[in-house]
Amino acid sequence: MSNNLLSISDLTKKETLDLIEFASNFKNEDGSFRKEDLFPDKTVANIFCEPSTRTKSSFEIAARNLGCSVIDFDVANSSIEKGESIFETVDALSLMGVDLCVLRHPQSVIRDLAEYLPEMTFINAGEGSISHPTQALIDLMTIIEKKGSIDDLNILIVGDLDHSRVTSSFIEAISNFSFGSLTFSGHPAMCSSYQEPALGRYEPDLDLAIQEADVIMTLRIQYERFDKDLDLDLEEYKHSYQITTERLEMAKGDAIIMHPGPVNYIEISEAAYQSENSVIRDQIANGVAIRMAVLSRFLSS
Ligand code: CP
Repeated sequence: MSNNLLSISDLTKKETLDLIEFASNFKNEDGSFRKEDLFPDKTVANIFCEPSTRTKSSFEIAARNLGCSVIDFDVANSSIEKGESIFETVDALSLMGVDLCVLRHPQSVIRDLAEYLPEMTFINAGEGSISHPTQALIDLMTIIEKKGSIDDLNILIVGDLDHSRVTSSFIEAISNFSFGSLTFSGHPAMCSSYQEPALGRYEPDLDLAIQEADVIMTLRIQYERFDKDLDLDLEEYKHSYQITTERLEMAKGDAIIMHPGPVNYIEISEAAYQSENSVIRDQIANGVAIRMAVLSRFLSS
């Protein structure tokens, strides 16, 4: 296994499945997480140059559960604000004894950082619109928990695909697996890279696409990544692409609804979020278990 988790393709299928199994061992029956003082000598720095709730907090909880010291690096009040580059920032943290950096950054800097500082371990916690490997592990873990495996499953991903690092890492992850089918749906202006996908197919009519789906992964509109104003009628958008309980009536009864969060209630209704088909809150909890597994593996390597 590589020293870093930069993208999901750093993991073989076996390593992916082993990590998911390892993560499930960190979950207790009552929903809490095992706490083990496995790495009392290790220091993890959480460097988030973009906002985050789930990823940042779950990495912090995971690191503390494993007995690590954690630096919640405050980017807004750091010397990055005085013009210091991320390279000098991470080098300084390395000299102070940080062993592993969890990095979320709007640009693709993590590979260059890993080359610049080969003694540091890097975990990608979100790279612009490019990749989000630990989210893909969470999504796979949740599907396997709920459905047993992804074999034969028809997977539907709907929403703002063009800006979704969650989608690209998930596709990378499942490309090593066999599954039933993969369908992309959503507003054509947000799915320009998915009209003729290398894997799967595009179906603009969500009412058709949803009928066969076993897994419905819905994604918010990432307004922060559009470089021009979206001329979008939100009511029309919801009419065509929102996951609602009415739309769920067209799907298989045991279809699961997933969402990486944060939810805006444009792409999914509150009732659908709260429906018994929704596993969105399980995904959030699995975030801690997956990050405990990832930190354990990469702090040991
Ligand atoms: N899924 C995800 O990355 O959520 P946050 O942006 O809240 O970390």
